[in-house]
Amino acid sequence: MEKEHKKKLRSQDWFDPKDEKSAFIHRSWLRNQGTPNDYFEGRPVIGICNTWSELTPCNAHLRDFAEFVKKGVLEAGGVPFEFPVTSMGEILMRPTAMLFRNLASMDTEECIRANPLDGVVLLTGCDKTTPATVMGACSVDLPTIVVPGGPMLNGKYKGERIGSGTFVWQLKDKIKNEGFTHEDQIEAEICSARSAGHCMTMGTASTMACMVESLGLTLPGAAAIPAVDSRKKVLAQLSGRRIVEMVKEDLKLSKILTREAFENAIKLNAAVGGSTNFVIHLQAIAGRIGVDLNLKDFDTLGSKIPLLVNLMPSGKFLMEDFFDAGGLPVVINEMKEHLYNEAITANGKPIGENNKKAECYNYEVIASIDKPFIEEAGIAVLYGNLCENGAVIKPSAATPELMSHRGKAVVFETIEEFLETVDNPDLEIDENSVMVLKGVGPIGYPGMAEVGNMEIPEKLLKRGIKDMVRISDGRMSGTAYGTVVLHISPESSIGGLLGLVQSGDDIILDVPNRKLHLEVDDAEIQKRKAAWQPPKPHMDRGYNSLYTKTVQQAHLGADLDFLVGKSGDKVTRDAH
Ligand code: FES
Repeated sequence: MEKEHKKKLRSQDWFDPKDEKSAFIHRSWLRNQGTPNDYFEGRPVIGICNTWSELTPCNAHLRDFAEFVKKGVLEAGGVPFEFPVTSMGEILMRPTAMLFRNLASMDTEECIRANPLDGVVLLTGCDKTTPATVMGACSVDLPTIVVPGGPMLNGKYKGERIGSGTFVWQLKDKIKNEGFTHEDQIEAEICSARSAGHCMTMGTASTMACMVESLGLTLPGAAAIPAVDSRKKVLAQLSGRRIVEMVKEDLKLSKILTREAFENAIKLNAAVGGSTNFVIHLQAIAGRIGVDLNLKDFDTLGSKIPLLVNLMPSGKFLMEDFFDAGGLPVVINEMKEHLYNEAITANGKPIGENNKKAECYNYEVIASIDKPFIEEAGIAVLYGNLCENGAVIKPSAATPELMSHRGKAVVFETIEEFLETVDNPDLEIDENSVMVLKGVGPIGYPGMAEVGNMEIPEKLLKRGIKDMVRISDGRMSGTAYGTVVLHISPESSIGGLLGLVQSGDDIILDVPNRKLHLEVDDAEIQKRKAAWQPPKPHMDRGYNSLYTKTVQQAHLGADLDFLVGKSGDKVTRDAH
């Protein structure tokens, strides 16, 4: 009896006529789409969770992809139903797309659980759409496969590669120092976005695509295929076929997302030179599925891993080059000595077996493990009185000479103050200063915006200064670079020491010894603490209010505290 119950599809709780009235209701309304009877007779029902939106340009092609997934589901004997969830584009959303990651995860979770689904395909692309949907799916824990939407084709401007995102960070310097005109800018805009897809640097979207492939949540080789390459459509179709089998095998997320899979992802993120945002999203996913992962793990496991991929912003190539060179399977194969090769993946096979035949076709883009581009990459986690719960820095995107640095703080109390004063010729700042930005953490902004890579003051740019030490409780776009300390926890707005820093204070950054320290004596710190007043919230109604009251700090993944963990797929009450 027990065995029979386990074999029964979840969707049959809706469609099986044990209770004629509710089965009638559940089936009848679905029939208005022309649904034949056999759709309700034990075929796996697959939800295609689509983050398509024209306001999320990176995901604007996903409506088409859903059709390929549907084809695959039908071919394998399943029944597909596409449904929309909250979509988040980095470019247009204010105050920052990150504010809505947890909201979208909630939307995803509840849509999956509330509906008669046996398995799920997540269609994702722009930065937050991948972690948000994976987080939500983890809290239900059905068989789930991810189809990453794929990067845009390489940007090309006047014969040179132009990386989406990364070029933006060079724009100010180009306009101020290289005679870059408005016409040049218009031309560069279209050159850096010449096809459908997400940013084609190793920014956060590409990092997230590599993350889900490393975790085993995609079919092999999924991450790097460009959005417009016909092989991406094939991948979508094959993923549709595969999810039906995953349902039959009951290969749910918790069987794939083991501690070993997370360790593989951390190591592979280091090898590809992935974004610092990886840390915050992977921790949030681990929190949902119930795998113990802490901030230090990212340093312990990842920071000694060599950099094997030469992509912007750390290097010079783009995702299309990465795909042509063999993509993530080559990196996984090169990294086999460091990985849990037995970790199971969405196709039911171990990650090592999936990728063992991968060959590199361009060693300028993907290095062999014996001749890496950098010996130690990954993300360093810093501690000290300025970041008792941790802070992160990406050494491969930083200036080596600045990794041990002592300088005087130049403090910007808010992002508005920074924008108003950074280019003021009277601002007292030089290349040895440490730029400090407050109020951009999860609660302070709110949503922990990607403003941590503050632009260098104009007067220093004119002198040829390209990098400075910058610290904040915010994040940085994965397309950005520089000696930038991020994710300082606790954040300034809740009383972290960062909130007490004053211009002129000495700050010591010592990445080799993993230290970030404010050199101010204790008596002075106590005095400042006693006088400190928390800043007024920027938004305190609706979702923003819920968010700021319940969001966790960066070192825990910035999930809402009540969303951590999972409720599973059971719903005992019906609407009728
Ligand atoms: Fe969507 Fe970069 S803006 S991936």
